[in-house]
This record gives sequence, structure tokens and C-alpha cells, in this order.
Amino acid sequence: MDEIKQRIEALREELNRHNYNYYVLNTPEISDREFDFMMKELEHLEAENPQWDDPYSPTHRVGSDISKAFTQVAHIHPMLSLGNTYSVSEVEDFMHRTTTALMGQEFSIVGEMKFDGTSISLIYEHGRLVRAVTRGDGEKGDVVTDNVMTIKSVPLQLTGDDYPDSFEIRGEIVLPWKEFERLNQEREYNEEPLFANPRNAASGTLKMQNSAEVARRGLDAYFYYLLGENLPYDNHYDNMMAARRWGFKVSDVMTRLDNIEDVDSFISYWDTARKELPVATDGLVFKVNSMRQQLNLGFTAKSPRWAIAYKFQAERALTRLHYISYEVGRTGVITPVANLEPVLLSGTMVRRASLHNEDIIRSLDIHENDMVYVEKGGEIIPKITSVDTSARTENARPVEFVKECPSCGTPLVRIEGEAAWQCPNKYGCEPQIIGRVEHFVGRRMMNIDGIGEETAQLLFESGLIRNIADLYDLTHEQLAMLDRFANRSAERVRQGIEASKSVPFERVIFALSIPYVGETVAKKLARSVRNIDALMNMSEDELTSIDDIGPRIAESIREYFSVPSNREIVERLRVSGLQMSMPEDSDEGRSDRLSGKSIVISGTFARHSRDEYKELIERHGGKNVGSISKKTDYLLAGENMGPAKLEKANSLGIPIIDEEQFLEMIGEG
Ligand code: IVH
Repeated sequence: MDEIKQRIEALREELNRHNYNYYVLNTPEISDREFDFMMKELEHLEAENPQWDDPYSPTHRVGSDISKAFTQVAHIHPMLSLGNTYSVSEVEDFMHRTTTALMGQEFSIVGEMKFDGTSISLIYEHGRLVRAVTRGDGEKGDVVTDNVMTIKSVPLQLTGDDYPDSFEIRGEIVLPWKEFERLNQEREYNEEPLFANPRNAASGTLKMQNSAEVARRGLDAYFYYLLGENLPYDNHYDNMMAARRWGFKVSDVMTRLDNIEDVDSFISYWDTARKELPVATDGLVFKVNSMRQQLNLGFTAKSPRWAIAYKFQAERALTRLHYISYEVGRTGVITPVANLEPVLLSGTMVRRASLHNEDIIRSLDIHENDMVYVEKGGEIIPKITSVDTSARTENARPVEFVKECPSCGTPLVRIEGEAAWQCPNKYGCEPQIIGRVEHFVGRRMMNIDGIGEETAQLLFESGLIRNIADLYDLTHEQLAMLDRFANRSAERVRQGIEASKSVPFERVIFALSIPYVGETVAKKLARSVRNIDALMNMSEDELTSIDDIGPRIAESIREYFSVPSNREIVERLRVSGLQMSMPEDSDEGRSDRLSGKSIVISGTFARHSRDEYKELIERHGGKNVGSISKKTDYLLAGENMGPAKLEKANSLGIPIIDEEQFLEMIGEG
């Protein structure tokens, strides 16, 4: 037995070390495969020996999908901001001011990157992360420990022996460019609003309720400030280097600087070199190195006197806006696009900029033919930040936002509660139809090899398809006759279409392009409705009783199936042999022990996840409902259940069962 325990501990230590090598030092010693292998072994041993489980084990970095609202706590030391400037001479003034305030003493400076993310305060006790708190209003912030624990470069357990028993470390949570681009591509694809910059994406992600999703997004964290009673050194730089040894990611950019000349060359070097960094930065920070001198200099009401931030100038260019054009997306949303006189900005030629929606055009008071400022701050997509109205000529034309769809001419409607205009001609408007075909064949939907954007367009324009069901009637001859279609690729498309018939039901639902039914919603629907007939005939009330299906989604599903041509398409897809139900092999382990019982789940559990309990309820004929009412039969209660739920169950006299009792009921006790 002890041997197993030793093995578990050895694996945890090894995995922590490799995590650190990989995520902090960027110098992995072993392959991903070897790493996964060790992780699997640890997972296995922990599952077999739950008595030695530890919430700090590296296996627990996957997050959970239990939602809870964040609690707020007061910061031990308020989180202040930094005085900032855009000018080198003001940084030099800071150096002179500091000399005077220190009455001529020598001092050294630490130059650092100013990371453009969202700041975080971490509390460690006895070498373990105990709490992570957002900046909030500077006095108090949200406790986001679970989410922060999913960030692989944040050490859960420190290494070494010279860290204080209790201390705070501050840093910045960032979303690296690469992950930011991946996330936005995904969002663009799903027609979800894009994040304007990595900072918004990082802070949005950190505040998500679902830590499993947080884990998936690939956040990272850099640390730059240590606070506590017993720090090992009397200067900032050495303390940060110690923090790096304990396991924190401290940027290599951090440099000791001895005089104004050093500071100036640090600025001129990083002004351009920062563009090569993997994360967004918006400036540099200069800090007095000695802690004693920091103490002498002290704070103003808002910021330390011992530090200053130098902010990089956002790159911008002045160019002419020729005209505004309009694009129609798969869901009919109209996006105005500024067509510009090409201009060079941060090394790329910019010709177009998104204007997002009509409100933005109005608030900028943009006219066609105006001279406009285009900026690429932390943003990927250049944006128009202002208009040079002094350069406005008689040629300038106020923007008349389109009233009709630029593609099919249907009068546009404004989506309630949103700034967007939409073409309501869902089934007759070409870009919408083609967009739906493109979506349908996509990798995460029906995954039809050989059809992409271009082929979808070609098939539509040649009159071979009018909707997604037509794809299944295409013959090899028809395909081979198409322009640019060699025999071989015709065969590939046919095979892709054939193979799509075994794509699981949940992806078929996603592929239909029902507004608001994305990948996750489709999965939930498939698991709970089990087949397409049930879905087609459900009322809005029945739909909203499914977990996570709100009124907007329910209404959209009802509306979709109330259109006869949609029902016809679904029927044709069924006849073509697509998967229209969940496989029945899942009969094993089914019973009607909970038949007719309505059960509410609350809290967190040890033996199964909440989703698993939900599935178990359904497998045994019961119904999982979201909130307690007179009709509820049981409350399945785990740890940390909300007091309101408990009180409500008690007041209605609803039996409360724990997981052991529940498992007993379904014969798995
Ligand atoms: S030091 C008391 N160092 O900038 C001073 N801040 O405007 C503590 N930031 O809220 C902050 N990089 O979120 C410091 N190397 C760095 C930084 C940095 C980014 C952020 C931080 C802070 C804001 C101050």
C-alpha cells in the first residue's frame, strides 16, 4: 500500500516539475506523450485510491463544470494602479524626481513589460495556492481560485524551501496571441461576437462560471510583484528571481537598469522588440529596486511613487474611407465594412475595417469620403477610431445604412435588444443559404470532405443544390460535370457525403443551423430529447425544462420547426439515412426505477459529476429539473449546496437524499 502512495507522490512531483519546465521555462524535458502517459498513470492510481486524493494534484487542473456565482473578498493590500505616461521625457522626469526624493542616494531600477491582460492577486500559505482574487474595484475583488487553478503556469504547490509561510503575489492573466486568434476564429465561425483584444478575452474568460471551459481556452499568467512580511531579499529583482525558482512565471524581459541611459535604451529596444512576444503588452514598467527605498518613497492615494508605466503609442494611420459595403452572414446579420484607401499599419496593408453596426457609425459621425484614423492597438482587426472632420469636403456623404438586404433586397429588421440589422429572408437569401450549406458540411458538423466555401458556392450557382438536403441527391455525374471538378474530387465529395450518414445525432442537430443552437446546446438537446421527432414536436415549455435551454433558444427551435420547408428538409435527410436519434445500445444500465420522478440536483458530488447524475436520472426513467417546486420528488444534495435551495426543499417537505442514497435507489449503491 505504502508503495502506491509513494508512487502517487513521486508522480505528482514529477508532473509538477514537467509542468513548470513546459509552461514556465518553455524548455520541456520530455515529450507530450511521455507526459500524458505519466498523467494517465496518476489518474488511474488516484481513482483506485481515493483516500490519497488531493485537490492540489496536477490531475485536478481540468476544471469542473459546476457553476457558482463568485464571492467577493477584501484585498489584504489594496490593488493600486500605476502612474503612466506616453513620453520618454516624463520617464526621465520620474528618474530625476526619484533622485531628489531619495536625497541623492544611488538607486537602481527594474525595467519590465507591462502585460496587457487582467491583474490577479494570489495568496499562498505553506507553499500552496489558497486564493486567487481579481482586481475588482481595487479594494475588493472576486474569488476566482477554481478558474486560476486551471492555468497550467500557475503553481499550485511551490518548490524550494525559501518561500515565506504566507505571502501574496500579483501578476497579469493573459491570453497569448495564438490562443486569442484560435478563440476568435472559433467565435467567428459560430457567429458569436468576437473579442476585440486579448485583454477583454482574458478578463471575460477569467469570470466564466464553467472552469472546464476556462481550462480549454489556454490562459497564461506572468508575475511581477511580491508582497509579504518575510520576503527572502531586500530588493524587488532578487525576490522575483526567487519567485521564479518557486515555480512562478516571471518574464525574461525583467532587467536591472542603473541609470537614465539604461532606461532610455530599454525603451527604444522594447518599443519594437515587444512585437515578437507571444502575449499582448501595452507598455513598460519601471520600478525602484530596493524595498527600503520603495518604503521611503511610499504611495500617493492612487499609485506608488516608486514606479511608473511608460505606455506604447497605439499605431494609427490616416486614410480615406471610400465607401461602406455590407455583408450578410449565415444568420442574416448585416455587417457594415469600411472600404479604405490602402494604408500601411504595423507592417500590414489595411484595406478594410469592420464597423460592427449602425450605432458605431452614428457615434463616430462617419461620412463616406471622410479622412479617418485607423488604429491597431491591442486589436487584431483594425478599427476606425475617429474622423478628421476638418478635412471633410463637399464630396462627403452621410452614411445611409442599408434598409434592404444587399443580396436579396428584402427589407431589413432590427433584432430586438441588439444593435444589429438582419435580413429576415432566411430561406430565400443566397448568402444565408450558402452559409448554411458551408456550416452543414463543416468539420465539426457533418464533416463532408471536399466541400468548402468555394464548392458550396459553385454547387449553389450551378443550380445543383438549393438546400442541405439536396447534397444527398448529388450524383457522381453531376459533380464530375462541374467546372473545376476533376473526376477524382467528384468521387471524394461523394464519399464524404456517404460517410456523413454515420455522423452522430448531436452533430446533425448542430449542422441544421437553428439560430442559437451551437455545439454545446445541440449536445444537450440530443442527450435529453433522444430523437428528432421529439425535438420537432416539443413545446417551448417542454424545451425550457431541459437544463441550460433558455426561452430564447426554445423559441428559436419552435420557430425553426414551424416552417414547413425545414420539416421537409429534415424528412429528406432522414430518408437519406442520417442519424436522427441517439444510439439504442445505451439500453444497458437502463431501468424504470425512477419512472415519473422529478429530481433536482444541487451541490457538488464525490462519486459522479453532476452531468453523470443527470444522465443516471434519465437512464432510470426520471426527469432532472432545474428548480424546486411542489412537483419535485427528491432533492439530490451534494456538498456546498445553496442555502436557498435547502430552505425551499424543507419548506415544501421535499425529501433530501445524498448521493449514496440515490445510488442505492437505482441499484448501484
Ligand atoms: S506593478 C503597485 N508591473 O498594470 C503596483 N503592473 O496600471 C502594482 N501591469 O493593475 C503593479 N504589467 O494589472 C505592475 N510589470 C507590471 C505590470 C503591471 C501589467 C498592470 C497591472 C496593474 C496595472 C497598473
